[in-house]
Amino acid sequence: MNTAVHSRVRVSLASRSYDVHIGSGNWEKLGPAIIESTRSEKVLVVTSPEIGRLYRRPVVKSLQGVGLKCKRIDIPDRDRNKNLRSVSRLYDAFLEAEADRSTVVLALGGGVIGDMAGFASATYLRGIPFIQVPTTLLAMVDASIGGKTGVNLRQGKNLVGSFHQPNLVWINLETLQSLPRAQVLAGFAEIIKHAVIWDRTHFRELEKTILNAVDLEPKVLSGIVRRSCEIKAEVVSKDENEQGLRMLLNFGHTIGHAIESLGKYKLLHGHCVAIGMVYAAERSAALGYASAKAVHRLRDLLERSGLPSELPRYPRRSYLDAIGVDKKRRGSKINFVVLERIGKAKTVPLSPMKVLPQSFLKR
Ligand code: GLY
Repeated sequence: MNTAVHSRVRVSLASRSYDVHIGSGNWEKLGPAIIESTRSEKVLVVTSPEIGRLYRRPVVKSLQGVGLKCKRIDIPDRDRNKNLRSVSRLYDAFLEAEADRSTVVLALGGGVIGDMAGFASATYLRGIPFIQVPTTLLAMVDASIGGKTGVNLRQGKNLVGSFHQPNLVWINLETLQSLPRAQVLAGFAEIIKHAVIWDRTHFRELEKTILNAVDLEPKVLSGIVRRSCEIKAEVVSKDENEQGLRMLLNFGHTIGHAIESLGKYKLLHGHCVAIGMVYAAERSAALGYASAKAVHRLRDLLERSGLPSELPRYPRRSYLDAIGVDKKRRGSKINFVVLERIGKAKTVPLSPMKVLPQSFLKR
């Protein structure tokens, strides 16, 4: 990969603003960037044993090269470990490392590591600095940007959490080379989501380059990742705490979450979101918000990238139950994100009957 490509995207949030750095083969520059973005002298590197084996050595070398003290903390990164027990283990490790408010937590891994390490750093001593070093495509373009941190409870996903913005997001695209194909595609679901709700030019670009992009061709990929990070940064900068605009990022998630939960979390989140987006676009057309052509273009792009688009055939009642526990439901209405056209979406409160009509799956 080309080490020369390096760009930054600013997340503008007044005193909580930060940069997302996007590059490749850029570990040696991470230490200096941490010095620039925090006043910390000690870094707690939270990672999984698997990711640690791959990347901890160059990361720690870079940090120690600029005089930062490092402590390594391993934690399993499966979604079933994303709970308060793991966070409690992190607190123990922070205490053992004598972490104080000037210590920075560095999350090296995918979304699960970022969410847990972020939540632990948001709550330990009422908040200590935090750096995201995402190693999956989904975490790069979505989970690492915007400050959402948290864990699952037995009753549902992400039910406990906090907004805690990182001081820095550091993306090394080289890490994607070791990512399983299914996880690469899961990241592309969120990339396509960003384009379809926000930027029709980027969507058109994806239509042209998707086959090279999913093959991780460096030049194509770095431009796509940068634009996707820019969109996320723009949305978050305008609505940090999800009072309105940020809800657009939930496009495809109402049904996507239902599929995830009905499938006992065996399907990847991004794949469920892909199916959920096609369904949301189809409902948008049926309710008169979007054209059939827009639905076709979205489905076509997702399918060409290799993502699924067909709804699993669970009974309608099961989908309704699954939506009932969706935390985005407000009273008897569901805040459903509809597509208006390629590059534009809006949130509308819909009754469950409008989201899942009687005719559901009767085709
Ligand atoms: N992943 C959606 C958000 O950050 O709001």
